[in-house]
Amino acid sequence: MPESVSKPHRVVVIGTGAVGATTAYTLLLRNRMSELVFIDANKDLALGEALDMNHGLPFVGGVKLWAGDYSDCKDADIIIIAAGSNQRPGETRIDLLNRNAAIFDDIIKSITKYNNHGILLIATNPVDILSYVSWKKSGWPANRVIGSGTLLDSARFRYLIGKHKEIDPRSIHAHIIGEHGDSELPVWSLANVAGAEIDFEQAERDDIFNSTKNAAYEIINAKGSTSYAIALALDRIVAAILQNEHAVLNVSSLLDDYHGISDVYLGVPSIVGREGIREKLQIPLNAQEEELLRASAQKLKDQIAQLNI
Ligand code: LAC
Repeated sequence: MPESVSKPHRVVVIGTGAVGATTAYTLLLRNRMSELVFIDANKDLALGEALDMNHGLPFVGGVKLWAGDYSDCKDADIIIIAAGSNQRPGETRIDLLNRNAAIFDDIIKSITKYNNHGILLIATNPVDILSYVSWKKSGWPANRVIGSGTLLDSARFRYLIGKHKEIDPRSIHAHIIGEHGDSELPVWSLANVAGAEIDFEQAERDDIFNSTKNAAYEIINAKGSTSYAIALALDRIVAAILQNEHAVLNVSSLLDDYHGISDVYLGVPSIVGREGIREKLQIPLNAQEEELLRASAQKLKDQIAQLNI
């Protein structure tokens, strides 16, 4: 008799600020897991978010959620780290590195005290470097340490291309790869709709890519922080893992001879399923794209070299 009830899945969200709370709410609305736990240094904040979302359960049902502590990581399938500072107007993501790397030591130690079998999903910026830090400090295999990467940037890119072409962004296939940040790059050579190349004047291409790359700055200037699209991107990754989709997503992965690049986390098309990252897809890049990817990798490696990890 097939098992009628699927195994309970627990997701832990560490950091219940704008990104963490919106991500938790998105996971709740989409009924992704059976248990959802909030952990925050500000215990009142975690408690308040849990109370507020629990009161919505009569409308969505199905999920047990609570404000907990690191011992609740024990049975977690996925642990999302969204804790730390986010960009203030004019700040780059790299400007957050020292502040946020400083808290990751304790966070990773607290997680690995209770859990060494789950999947770490990093959202805190600079996400590629902090994914590398999490991999190093946890000692977990790289396939189980994933950064949100350029999944969000690729969504912004697809939205803007779709807006220019008046096509549903879900029908646009286009990648932003590299750093989730100022050195990211557009893979125009592979952008397509139903396999057909997307024609743009150079000025249009520049406008679309600059709007993609600078989207977070524009939103932060307007409303103080970003939250909805990154929450949907994290939800997408959680779904691919828990439903063992083997979906191709531009998450931040540890590279090993990817176009000659190794020992750095960057956003590249990766196959994501129940075990985390199954494989990175070495997509063809033209000479300019490959050069920009190498430059993005070197920028992050230079930053990592300054951390004593
Ligand atoms: C952004 C944040 C998540 O790009 O870095 O919205």
